[in-house]
Amino acid sequence: MSGRNVLTVAALALMLAACGKPGEGGSTTAPASEDLMKVARDQFKALPASYKDIPGNTATEDQIKLGAMLYHDPRLSGSHALSCASCHNIGLGGGDDASFSIGHKWQQGGRNAPTVLNAVFNTAQFWDGRAKDLFEQAGGPMVNPIEMNSPKEHVAEQLKSIPGYADAFAKAFPTDKDPVSLGNAQTAIAAFESTLITPNAPFDQYLAGKADALNADQKAGLKLFVDKGCAACHNGMNIGGGMYAKFGVVEAPGAKYLPAGDKGREGVTHDVTDAYSFKVPTLRNVTLTAPYFHTGSVWDLSEAVRVMGKAQLGQQLSNDEVTKIVAFLGTLKGDQPKVEVPILPPSGPQTTRPERN
Ligand code: HEC
Ligand code: HEC
Repeated sequence: MSGRNVLTVAALALMLAACGKPGEGGSTTAPASEDLMKVARDQFKALPASYKDIPGNTATEDQIKLGAMLYHDPRLSGSHALSCASCHNIGLGGGDDASFSIGHKWQQGGRNAPTVLNAVFNTAQFWDGRAKDLFEQAGGPMVNPIEMNSPKEHVAEQLKSIPGYADAFAKAFPTDKDPVSLGNAQTAIAAFESTLITPNAPFDQYLAGKADALNADQKAGLKLFVDKGCAACHNGMNIGGGMYAKFGVVEAPGAKYLPAGDKGREGVTHDVTDAYSFKVPTLRNVTLTAPYFHTGSVWDLSEAVRVMGKAQLGQQLSNDEVTKIVAFLGTLKGDQPKVEVPILPPSGPQTTRPERN
């Protein structure tokens, strides 16, 4: 079951062989520029310009509006101190600029908060893929004792106690007789998150045919990214987000980056061959989303690239190669979503007061 999306060493070797000679990428003469664009178009895909162009997205404007309110409402947390936006700040690339987030009662979880930007394009959510989509994911944090710590039954109760929400839920779910529910809150949050996409990055413009959207160093970086084998895992529309891979597929990266305690995907599948496999993260907007890795242990993108070279490909990248790859990664920064701070309805007499001890 688990093996399906997990890249094994053997499969990686095959993929690399198919891509050409690993380890020697970049040393051959540069291909004609049209060839590079063709190679890029084979491996990657531009982001759609609007959430409306995402296949299968049923988000309505009223759901998105409600979802934006819920995303920013700290009353969904026991302490009234935390909202989704606390750990997934849209002004900070959809993350929280911390190795580990501060959750309920100053507790820290053991994993870095991944960006919510473009998360809609990931094939599963969380580092270990334990939620299949944004709907399922959104049910987690509100009731997680380390994150927001609201008991499950309490979420709908709390929302019902805030009179202004009745109207917003009724508009968002017009055919529903009892629209204020945890499930509908999840749907609305997921609808809002589907709008958090970052189209029009220089790399997307390049994929669309604008050859000069990337400068010479950035193109050299793209070529290295493909030739060295990074694109065997970081590919598709999200330049990642499509599969799981062992961190340390060639060489274990060391406890600073990969502590023994967190076995990633194995915790979900209970299959030992998934030990230390994690979802390959998206590299879109990666220049905005330090610190890196599920441990948030690396603040410098060059170091993250170097670690990847050794751990995933068994290669010591030169400083020049690292600089070029980082230059390419910078072209993955797209237009950031413009989100208006929503005005939230005031609490009612029944609204639970913040728990502070
Ligand atoms: C206290 C900090 C915190 C809060 C509050 C929080 N999150 Fe997260 N979020 C995290 C962390 C940490 C992870 C990664 C956990 C893991 O992979 O095991 C995560 C993972 C995610 C992911 C998965 C992204 C991916 O690429 O895998 C999404 C989407 C997300 N959160 C959305 C939300 C939403 C929506 C809310 C509000 C309902 C929320 N989060 C509240 C810290 C937080
Ligand atoms: C075998 C698959 C694989 C290959 C090949 C690979 N990566 Fe990764 N990459 C991953 C996985 C898995 C992670 C998450 C590791 C973790 O934190 O557990 C990751 C994480 C990263 C991160 C950190 C992103 C973040 O938001 O935390 C960067 C940057 C990155 N890779 C760049 C590269 C580059 C550049 C190359 C080529 C030199 C490369 N990767 C090759 C699988 C791969």
